Amino acid sequence: MGVLKLNNVTKIYGEKDTTVYGLNNINLDIFEGDMVSIMGPSGCGKSTLLNILGCIDSPTHGEYLIYDKKISFKNFNNLAKIRNEKIACIFQNFALIKELSVIDNITIPLNFRKISANIRKEIALKYLKKLDMEQFYNIKVKNLSGGQQQRVAIARALAQETNILLADEPTGSLDSNNAKNIMGILRKLNSEGKTIIIATHDNLVSSFCNKKLVMRDGRFIF
Ligand SMILES: Nc1ncnc2c1ncn2[C@@H]1O[C@H](COP(=O)(O)OP(=O)(O)OP(=O)(O)O)[C@@H](O)[C@H]1O
Ligand SMILES: [Mg+2]
Repeated sequence: MGVLKLNNVTKIYGEKDTTVYGLNNINLDIFEGDMVSIMGPSGCGKSTLLNILGCIDSPTHGEYLIYDKKISFKNFNNLAKIRNEKIACIFQNFALIKELSVIDNITIPLNFRKISANIRKEIALKYLKKLDMEQFYNIKVKNLSGGQQQRVAIARALAQETNILLADEPTGSLDSNNAKNIMGILRKLNSEGKTIIIATHDNLVSSFCNKKLVMRDGRFIF
């Protein structure tokens, strides 16, 4: 079953003589159960691609379909609903609120759902445990190391329990043991049906994926 589809998508940043092509007329089909790595040199467009797939940014040209439904990038309520319920993102820069505790960061997306505070906390702790981070649940994010913050960002995305997960360099700040643990968790979630797309520079991460795409200058070259 088709999950995500891009038709002739271009993303242009800037105006007039300062324009940069983040994406240059790309097509993409992601199917249910895919676990895809996207590799390529810095600046080739990986984050730009994930930002559009995650409905965080809009294309300049082209169309985007989720489960065969065309996305309107003007319907902000629907975009917010997709980001909360359908597609979770692990961001390259973590996008955590540093003054809040670990658990308060993880429950942010869940606050928009009709579930009690206790259940929200339970879900957050379940994923913190998987990432060996439960002992830090009450610590402010600003007091954690980069690798610990990255694990909080991963826990927050997993706690959304969406069918689709986008991960932008999810192991960039981690040692190889933590990276392997995380890839093991993602592999298991994928075997249970989650569709996963990961932008990475790391061959180890890519080796866990069953489809490998390579980008250069805003296009796929493989
Ligand atoms: N907000 C922006 N404004 C202007 N140009 C941008 C913006 N975001 C990205 N770009 C440009 O678009 C191109 C693709 O950037 P992108 O961040 O998608 O690359 P990337 O593959 O994720 O790189 P990295 O591996 O370093 O994370 C680069 O040339 C970058 O400078
Ligand atoms: Mg990037």
